Amino acid sequence: MDRPVHLTNIFDPISTPAQAIVELSWLVLWICAGIFVIVVGLLTYILIRFRRRRADADEPPQVYGSNQIELAWTVIPMLTVVVLFLVTTRTIKAVQDAVPSPDTVHVTIVGHQWWWEIRYPALGIVTANELHVPVSHQAQPRPTFLKLQSVDVAHSFWVPRLAGKTDLIPNRDNSMWIEPREPGLYLGQCAEYCGTQHANMLLRIIVHARDDFERWVAVQQQPPVNNPAMQVGRDLFQATACVNCHTVRETNANGTFGPDLSHLMSRATLGAGVVDNTPHNLRAWIRNPQHLKPGNLMPDMQLTPQELEHIVAYLVTLQ
Ligand code: CUA
Repeated sequence: MDRPVHLTNIFDPISTPAQAIVELSWLVLWICAGIFVIVVGLLTYILIRFRRRRADADEPPQVYGSNQIELAWTVIPMLTVVVLFLVTTRTIKAVQDAVPSPDTVHVTIVGHQWWWEIRYPALGIVTANELHVPVSHQAQPRPTFLKLQSVDVAHSFWVPRLAGKTDLIPNRDNSMWIEPREPGLYLGQCAEYCGTQHANMLLRIIVHARDDFERWVAVQQQPPVNNPAMQVGRDLFQATACVNCHTVRETNANGTFGPDLSHLMSRATLGAGVVDNTPHNLRAWIRNPQHLKPGNLMPDMQLTPQELEHIVAYLVTLQ
């Protein structure tokens, strides 16, 4: 997929909540810029106009109190704050109180150290680190509502062009929604420090045209490829502790501690965005999981070179 520019530009929203937030931000910025110009302008003028001159007496005339001025600098800031409060409340309410339409896609996102589990309960799909959603047109809105959870520590879901940040908190369901209006690739990032690999907890959001999304769903719903030529690697994989943490549907691998591998090779990156998902990088990752992403929770399986080749050959078939 070709990469659009402005991947993470907060001032270039393409989704309804992000648009609402950016409009509010501009209003606040302009009001604050106005106040800044007035204050600094007056200050500069006064510093120059009333600076001490040689002919001046020792002290300028002393003025005590002015009802008019005091009233002005009390009432104007109060009105400004009230206006900011009201417009902010309106935006928060509009974003938070949105109601899903029947056509809405529902996704549950679970934060892990340091990757994203992505589940589509109604569609029976489980994937990782890549959120695929349909584009939403004004005439035919199709937003995506996200339920956010965490299994370990606090994380934060942030895709600047789509919406504001929302935390993923253990033992709590948070929610947010996006409504992207243009297909493309948008990048996100965990925005809450969550441990050593916080910076490598990256997110890719792929917004599809409608038909494309249906195609993606159909592919993900298919059972994993079971290529008889890869039987050795498949058996080895199933006999190794890989299965305690990873799921490959229709095998004995049903762990949920690590990412679901049923369609591993349909994803663009490994390790939540650390490297491209190529057979070469996959081999390097399994040979020494601590090399590409030090501190991640995948152990070294101590495979022999031959076992490694078999398992990689099998995993590469999981399209
Ligand atoms: Cu997860 Cu920072």
